[in-house]
Amino acid sequence: MRPSNTAHLYELAWILPSIALPIGMLVALVVTAFGVGVHVPGDAGRVDPTKLATTAPFDKPGVFQVAPGRYEVRMVAQIWSFTPREIRVPAGSTVTFIATSRDVVHGLFIPRTTINVMLLPGQVARVTARFDRPGEYPLVCHEYCGIAHHTMAGKVIVEPRS
Ligand code: CUA
Repeated sequence: MRPSNTAHLYELAWILPSIALPIGMLVALVVTAFGVGVHVPGDAGRVDPTKLATTAPFDKPGVFQVAPGRYEVRMVAQIWSFTPREIRVPAGSTVTFIATSRDVVHGLFIPRTTINVMLLPGQVARVTARFDRPGEYPLVCHEYCGIAHHTMAGKVIVEPRS
């Protein structure tokens, strides 16, 4: 093969993937957003972070049963704790977290579940997970929020069904 042809092939070998990759990413984006319904959480509403004590549902943080097997956790994050700090539900429960931050950006992450969201002051996050296996699930802040960030944690206790 002549040298000019080889150079041409090398160029094609770079050009084709550089066209195919962004097209592939765009297709993946469109399919996940509109086909599977994956979206950025946080469109659940807005709230004045300075008035949480008088704004429902954050005026009464806690765990509430909303239907058989369904619970709602109304949660407020602040430096450096979650309210409520401990959540108890029976195994097989579907739990929706409605959460926000009182002060700075925090995170809400529960390993081994689908809960992984940022808590922004002013923004209401709403995420749902099902807890089938009994046990303790740590609930951690995974956004750096200050000097005691590493201590900001809670837990979900999933009790075996009797
Ligand atoms: Cu709250 Cu880190």
